[in-house]
Amino acid sequence: MPRSLQQHKPQFTTLALRLSSFFLLLVLSNQSHHVKADIFIYSDCSEGKYQPNSPYVTYLNTLLSSAVNSASQSLYNSFALGNDSSAPAEASIYGLYQCRGDLETRDCATCMASAVNQINLVCPYTYGAILQLDGCFLRYEHIDFLGKPDTSLRYKKCGKRASSDAEFLRGRDAVLANMQGSISFRVSTSGLVEGYAQCIGDLSEADCSSCLADAVVQLKSLCGSSEAADAFLAQCYARYWASGYYDSSDSSHGNDDEVGKTVAIIVGSVAGFAVLIVLISFCRTAVH
Ligand SMILES: *[C@@H]1O[C@H](CO)[C@@H](O)[C@H](O)[C@H]1NC(C)=O
Repeated sequence: MPRSLQQHKPQFTTLALRLSSFFLLLVLSNQSHHVKADIFIYSDCSEGKYQPNSPYVTYLNTLLSSAVNSASQSLYNSFALGNDSSAPAEASIYGLYQCRGDLETRDCATCMASAVNQINLVCPYTYGAILQLDGCFLRYEHIDFLGKPDTSLRYKKCGKRASSDAEFLRGRDAVLANMQGSISFRVSTSGLVEGYAQCIGDLSEADCSSCLADAVVQLKSLCGSSEAADAFLAQCYARYWASGYYDSSDSSHGNDDEVGKTVAIIVGSVAGFAVLIVLISFCRTAVH
């Protein structure tokens, strides 16, 4: 065995160990930074299904990749594809996406990439699909829904605890009142209550206000004096929570974080271990 190569062997092992911990850190840091925006809120799939080889697939894939690309430039965009006379009639598709108003475009693109992956899993082969994650929204349909008024309630969630504390109720009412004059995206805080509201990007100011007024009525009538509540309408949403509610309660947010971290640790360890094995066997081959 040549002496020079034998001396290199420990260096390869050190390098392999460093690389594996680097991979672990890389995966962990990515995960903790983006974990919140990826949290699933609701989905809705249309009834009809397309054939896996229909022209719709091509247009759908173009729409999804356009949405991800566009998200790195803009928090909102809408698309209409295959609705001119040159495309087959069954190919037309309309879609839009929107990210939460406080996200950077970089994080919007990450959230949309995740939404595109998830929407194929939750709504396989359906002509239309809606997916709302914590940080972004994605919808596509075979029929043209762009710019059409829609006030339907899509999803609501009331917190487990209710409060009759006068200070909480005052704060909540102030936050809800503040949301109704919203344009596009607004965070508001009053006393012990925080919240935010957002409209779909193409709504006029007047339609946005009236959509949010509906959302607030829904929040109050469906969730009473819950310490936290979300109402998602087709074109806007409003969410509020008592300060500290999500820290103290056993909410799904916390659980999802833990699952995400566990997955990251497993993936990171496996990737690191694979690098280690490859480098060790590379050393062995070099030595023999
Ligand atoms: C396709 O649909 C979009 C969105 O409704 C519309 O603006 C556009 O004019 C349509 N194109 C054609 C050729 O009909």
